Amino acid sequence: MKAIAVNQKKRDVGLIDQPVPEISLPTEVKFRTLEVGICGTDREICRFDYGNPPTGYEHLVLGHEALGYVTEVGSEVHHIKPGDFVVPMVRRPCHHEFCISCRNDRSDFCTTGDFVERGIKEYHGFMTEQVVDQEKYLCVVPPSLREVAVLVEPLTVAEKALIQMWHIQKRLHWECPVTKGLAPGHCHKAVVLGAGPIGILGAMAFKVAGFDTYIYSRSKAPNPKAELVESFGVKYISSEETSPDELALMLGNIDVVYEAVGGAKVSFEVLKVLGLNGIFIFTGIPGHPLPEISIDGEFIMRNMVLKNQVLLGTVNAGRDAFDNAIHDLGIFMERWPEAVRSVISGRFELGKAKELLIGKASGIKNVLKLSAM
Ligand code: BGC
Ligand code: ZN
Repeated sequence: MKAIAVNQKKRDVGLIDQPVPEISLPTEVKFRTLEVGICGTDREICRFDYGNPPTGYEHLVLGHEALGYVTEVGSEVHHIKPGDFVVPMVRRPCHHEFCISCRNDRSDFCTTGDFVERGIKEYHGFMTEQVVDQEKYLCVVPPSLREVAVLVEPLTVAEKALIQMWHIQKRLHWECPVTKGLAPGHCHKAVVLGAGPIGILGAMAFKVAGFDTYIYSRSKAPNPKAELVESFGVKYISSEETSPDELALMLGNIDVVYEAVGGAKVSFEVLKVLGLNGIFIFTGIPGHPLPEISIDGEFIMRNMVLKNQVLLGTVNAGRDAFDNAIHDLGIFMERWPEAVRSVISGRFELGKAKELLIGKASGIKNVLKLSAM
């Protein structure tokens, strides 16, 4: 069967042939890969800046944002059946007995760094026609979400951030007055940095959580992403037209910044205007080589202390974030079906994969079609 792989040694990205996997453990599930999203991480791996093949291989099969259709289950699989739609989790635990995170199914907080990630780190990914995986790493999605379920994995980034944010902000009375019909974050302001898929999906998640939500991104409006964002009630503000200081003047106390640009410069500039008791969440992984920037360290440190601020980094996601992503995606589809659909900017045949992976970045979320149901 076909797969898209990257060979770092040969400096090559493209189509390969590999054997169809078979179920070998009673807890395993086999699925046909319907769609796989392409993200910045995949493009970085294709620039040979990131990622590693599994031990014993020269190549890595790409793909970590997948949607599958179950075709076969092992005898000890209890919650998944043929015909189900599933989204696989990305990370798998390390094998050290003492890694308390991995031993408790929280490899997203692995303490050793020896975890593996499908399609990224030492484990083949999902850009292939059929996959076998353990039931415990698969999340069932309702058929009603089939059309957009490939967005579940990128949405888990925001969901994991939100779970941690609520947890951390319990350090103070951050709860909003109970007001019927309003979601829990309704008295807070959130600024999302970046209008890529992680930013747009993050803005939707903050909006559903009740936050007064803004997207701060480079391009001047009007532009298609600004239009998309405003169609679900989030104001788009261009950093070319509004400086971080003006942004803070405009909005008042910025309670949360959710970074989804992967760039340090604008991030640290916005960190300077984070509000009292605010939390700044990094999700982006800046590309290499890193352009050197200067940071106003003293000003930031002073603010962080005097304003009780938190700076949080977050990577990958656990089962709770996947569950919340599936739940929220359902809400997004009830409220803004057209906006959610248009996050997927294109669906492409495998023959287009190479160009999408190494060519000029375009669109929002580009998706590869792997096999039919
Ligand atoms: C994936 C995460 C992964 C991270 C770092 C992201 O693109 O969504 O699951 O942990 O890359 O490898
Ligand atoms: Zn990704």
